[in-house]
Amino acid sequence: MNTSKRRPILAANWKMHKTAAETRGFLTAFLPLVDGLDGREIVIAPPFTALSAASEVLKGNKLVSLAAQNMYFEQEGAFTGEISPIMLREFGVKRVILGHSERRHVFGEGDDLIASKVRAAMENGLLPILCIGEMLEEREAGSTYEVLERQLSTGLSAIDNRGATQVVIAYEPVWAIGTGKTATPTQAQEAHIYIRSWLDSRFGPGIADQIRILYGGSVKPDNINELMALPDIDGVLVGGASLKVEGFAEIVSCQID
Ligand code: 13P
Repeated sequence: MNTSKRRPILAANWKMHKTAAETRGFLTAFLPLVDGLDGREIVIAPPFTALSAASEVLKGNKLVSLAAQNMYFEQEGAFTGEISPIMLREFGVKRVILGHSERRHVFGEGDDLIASKVRAAMENGLLPILCIGEMLEEREAGSTYEVLERQLSTGLSAIDNRGATQVVIAYEPVWAIGTGKTATPTQAQEAHIYIRSWLDSRFGPGIADQIRILYGGSVKPDNINELMALPDIDGVLVGGASLKVEGFAEIVSCQID
């Protein structure tokens, strides 16, 4: 883990998994396994329909907080099927995942829409986890940094220096999501260095050093320590391996220097 003051975040993105009852069962079994861990933040992002159940079980818990997987940028209105930031806050949601690759590539969300969501999250007291990452064709064509540059510059276009320290970036190479392929430590560290240097040129070194950059893409109990040992990896965003109580408890119990 990095030697900076960045507190690591270990986050579960459950995607479209778990009912409210399953969420309650998971958290009731999970909390005793992580009790007493310190020096880290654990985040759970269940589906919208399970936020209420999760917030009841997590009430008063200082270690584990709630995130949503998406939101719309308006507070209310005629937007059938959408969820607003104030609706999320009602359940004690602290963070919101925005621009996840499945939102981008399955549901066609573009950088401008994602930027509006990032701005709206900040304006409504939710902390964005902005996901960025290249597709396999883009990596093979040598355009990884160009893609990251575009996703960062548009996604963070409304964020000022004060807001920037509150934002979390998740680097999730699309080719590593749900495929069992993890970026090698060198690939992950290189991308994270690029992202931090971009943040540095946009917000200045004092701020870039405080921004947490998470890695996501086939994180598992058996690769977590290797990933967390990299100096610019400040945590992880875990999909499939976060669905099992013991496996996710093992991930969040990773070694942190
Ligand atoms: P997997 O851990 O299942 O590869 O998913 C990663 C991810 O998309 C987290 O947001």
